[in-house]
Amino acid sequence: MTKCWFDCKTVIVTGASSGIGRLLSEKLIKDHGCNVIGIARTESKLAALKEELGRYSHKFCYYAFDVSDKNKWAELADTFEKENRQIDILINNAGILPKFDRFENYSLEEIDSAMEINFFSSVYSMKALMPNVLKSESAAIINVASSAALCSLAGTSVYSASKAALKSFTDAVREETRGRCYIGLICPGFTKTDIFRSQKKSSSKAQKAMDMVSTSCDRMVRLIINSMWKKKKDSVFGIDAHLMDTGCRLIGPYCSGISSKVMKISGLEIFRDIFAE
Ligand SMILES: NC(=O)c1ccc[n+]([C@@H]2O[C@H](COP(=O)([O-])OP(=O)(O)OC[C@H]3O[C@@H](n4cnc5c(N)ncnc54)[C@H](OP(=O)(O)O)[C@@H]3O)[C@@H](O)[C@H]2O)c1
Repeated sequence: MTKCWFDCKTVIVTGASSGIGRLLSEKLIKDHGCNVIGIARTESKLAALKEELGRYSHKFCYYAFDVSDKNKWAELADTFEKENRQIDILINNAGILPKFDRFENYSLEEIDSAMEINFFSSVYSMKALMPNVLKSESAAIINVASSAALCSLAGTSVYSASKAALKSFTDAVREETRGRCYIGLICPGFTKTDIFRSQKKSSSKAQKAMDMVSTSCDRMVRLIINSMWKKKKDSVFGIDAHLMDTGCRLIGPYCSGISSKVMKISGLEIFRDIFAE
């Protein structure tokens, strides 16, 4: 593999226990010789990843905590300072997808939780760790948002808002740290991971439709690594994400309207409650 700027760097990956974050951790370790510090809540899954890494396992360590706990981030920053440990790259990937539903059906707790995990966790991690990261010659922060940050769909009010907040925050901090830190924003479309676990069970017709527009996790991770390699500012990945991005650029809020009509006409059960009379 040709040398690239993040080879052998120390990288924090949040959401390393599953899906995109897990595979990203694996590839950074195996293909780029990185030392990865994985963060997620489920310790057993992080331990399983370490085990599966076999001869590479010394390159992976982990901390099991909730990324929306700001005190944990402060403690972690203290630990690194005491150990004199340089962090080169912070990848804020952990996130949740609340079930597709009408805004009026979400409890305030569900709304708080989505905002905390999908948005504030990145604010907390960056607040605590930026002083450390900025000391690196290869300082970089990658925030994983979503195509939902570019175009809001019915049934995703809270998720879209949390990811749009992350996008706006990232855009501003990027300008403030220009020349000192590479800051990338990734907006994936539907990707085949377990993130849909809390959604209604799909029929085979719905599953087929989802599969048609979804990107495999392996491809998504390759695209993310390629985007990091080229130090791209904004990356939109997946057919659905490109359609939403282009649609919103061309016709603005009408794109949300058209997309919602398509969701309604599709009759798919995952969207049914959103449009019930
Ligand atoms: N898959 C898609 O279609 C898609 C599309 C657009 C954007 N994205 C974004 O891509 C990112 C990764 O998603 P994915 O598809 O890989 O989902 P996933 O397979 O469900 O993985 C999510 C990861 O985030 C961690 N996580 C969730 N809440 C956490 C918390 N409070 N504290 C610590 N870790 C937490 C989970 O670990 P624990 O449960 O062990 O804590 C898990 O490792 C998310 O930000 C998601 O919004 C995904």
